Amino acid sequence: MRQEMLLGTQRVNGDGVLEIGGCDAVALAREFGTPLYVVDEQCLRDKCRAYREAFAAHYPDSHISFSGKVLTTTAVFKIAHQEGLGLDVSSEGELYTALRAGIPAKDIVFHGNNKSQREIERAVIEGVGRVGVDSMEEISALQEAAAARDAVVDVLVRVAPGVAADTHTHIQTGRVDTKFGFSIVGGAAKEAVEAALAAPNLRVRGINCHIGSQIMETEPFVQAVELMVAFAAELRDALGFVVEELDLGGGLGVRYLPEDRPPTLDEHARAIAGALRAACERRGLPLPRLIQEPGRSLAGEAGVTLYTVGVVKTVPGVRTYVVVDGGLSDNPRPALYDARYHAIVANKANAPRTKTVTVSGKHCETDTLISDLQVPEIEPGDILAVQTTGAYNYSMASNYNRLPRPAMVLVRDGRAEVIVEREGLEDLVRLDRLPPRLRD
Ligand code: LLP
Repeated sequence: MRQEMLLGTQRVNGDGVLEIGGCDAVALAREFGTPLYVVDEQCLRDKCRAYREAFAAHYPDSHISFSGKVLTTTAVFKIAHQEGLGLDVSSEGELYTALRAGIPAKDIVFHGNNKSQREIERAVIEGVGRVGVDSMEEISALQEAAAARDAVVDVLVRVAPGVAADTHTHIQTGRVDTKFGFSIVGGAAKEAVEAALAAPNLRVRGINCHIGSQIMETEPFVQAVELMVAFAAELRDALGFVVEELDLGGGLGVRYLPEDRPPTLDEHARAIAGALRAACERRGLPLPRLIQEPGRSLAGEAGVTLYTVGVVKTVPGVRTYVVVDGGLSDNPRPALYDARYHAIVANKANAPRTKTVTVSGKHCETDTLISDLQVPEIEPGDILAVQTTGAYNYSMASNYNRLPRPAMVLVRDGRAEVIVEREGLEDLVRLDRLPPRLRD
């Protein structure tokens, strides 16, 4: 029996064609062109709601923020906010996008490990709900910017708990050896909290961390909770400061391949809530408000990228390359993180997968999107639907080889609406300037 992976509202209709949000994927490709990012609205909403409800059930004083870096568009931000989530941003551009989406500043947490002066001032002027301070320089600059405007800013101090989660090293962000935040080991984190407490215009609400991304087990989160609570106890004992809020970042993994089995939301929430309660009890600490900032686990499975197959080239005795009309520029993740993906030939979704091919992009280098994908007989003109592309694909896209960035459509109940326009050739040269001496 062939193992098919259908995510969110995906289904195969009576004609053997993949549907997403009740829309025929081949018709979407025809109407909007390819490559095309497709966002399954119902799936996104369900994930946001399920995440919020799972934590509410296991830990009532919890708050979930959507991590804006994963799929940075106003429509997606709006949907997450409508589902009762706050928003985490990590640059002025993400903040601007959130404000343009109509998200109230008080619902926004501003992270970032090297915020510019302008970003710091923008956070104060807009009155964002929390600033995650990441360096001593930032603590001073934020204090100054707040004092100049007679404002008081609520802050979380970013801590590196010293957890090496089992994921790609580029996305392990909570180790001791990291550019992010202040290390607990060695005392930097305690000094940072002390400095922030001494800043009259900063109100320290708690501590935050983020141990990594695409984590497929609960253990590293439990470990992080224990280290963070131990640190909270140290702060109470040494400084008399009681952590009100504990922000654990994001990190929960998703299904990229049919065999992937990330923890369920219930397992994830139960493990974190249980560990937090037990650790606080053990140390006689009041239960803090628990903040989570998931990104990938909300948007990842809600995204599909549709491509049109162009060249199908067999190198005899070696492999067959199936080349699509996008690649590295719309999905840099295979190149950056050896990320693996699964795909369905949308117009032959029921056909038996009889061949093994390598899916490549059209860039001027070996941009393999998927090596060793089982497919049915495949030919030019087929529509390939690469799954789980909702997180860190569009938001990390580039214009390499001057490929215009794809459009994005939101699908739901048989309707498709453009939420990001396809770039055109004019967009590609819009910022180019020809100095007069180079003009003929
Ligand atoms: N909060 C903070 C402070 C973060 O740094 C991140 C992601 C998140 C939340 C959301 O984490 P998630 O739930 O999505 O794992 N570009 C890489 C992933 C980088 C993750 C950066 N931080 C990738 O494509 O795999």
